[in-house]
Amino acid sequence: MPKIVIAIDGYSSCGKSTTAKQVAARLGYAYIDTGAMYRSVSLFFSQHHVALTNPKAILDALQQIHITFNHNARTGRNETCLNGLNVEEEIRKMYISNIVSEVSAIPEVRYAMVAQQQKMGRKRGVVMDGRDIGTQVFPDAELKIFMTADPTIRAQRRQIELLERGEMLGLDAILENLLKRDYIDSNRSEGPLRKAHDAIELDTSFMTLDEQVDWVIQLADEKIASLHRKGHFNPQDA
Ligand code: DC
Repeated sequence: MPKIVIAIDGYSSCGKSTTAKQVAARLGYAYIDTGAMYRSVSLFFSQHHVALTNPKAILDALQQIHITFNHNARTGRNETCLNGLNVEEEIRKMYISNIVSEVSAIPEVRYAMVAQQQKMGRKRGVVMDGRDIGTQVFPDAELKIFMTADPTIRAQRRQIELLERGEMLGLDAILENLLKRDYIDSNRSEGPLRKAHDAIELDTSFMTLDEQVDWVIQLADEKIASLHRKGHFNPQDA
């Protein structure tokens, strides 16, 4: 069967990554969490006191950053590794959420991350979630989804996620962070958050995770079957 790229973009905490992860597992595809990459860069910058206004320091730091994804067979979870160290827990903390939009708006950071993401998806067979996947990283993705959800519902979901990780935060602080990130992500000059003209919009406000996953899988199956009928094969499938 031909393999495709599935791009899932949208606002913070719409359920992109949980959906993308399960879609990838069901299709036997790789899952790339591009937000985790920007969060890892933010962690490195924070640990090494990289001034966000110093282009040389940023370029030097980017040279020293190596991000990989590791599947932990014991826990069954995906882990983000920064220079070989598991940073999965650390990058989800609020102090990273508070700086990540600023860090990811820096053009040099974006060029470096986009190049790596394009390399990771070169062979197709990936589900990638982020903000600019359908517009910048894979404008030729065979399936593009743009997720939205009511901001208060997103904040509530995020609050539960943070609680599960042991961070207790008020709804107002979370909502403020989400809206601020949406604003910065949508208004930056390089790779702003936009719905690609050929993306299909999904409002997840009142959907369960299973419904979201089934919806994407159905679209993916249709796309793959239509490519198959048209005789589109990737060389690695032959
Ligand atoms: O998906 P997330 O909330 O973990 O992403 C964290 C931040 O990273 C988000 O506020 C914007 C940025 N990001 C981005 O600019 N481009 C992407 N492709 C993915 C995330």
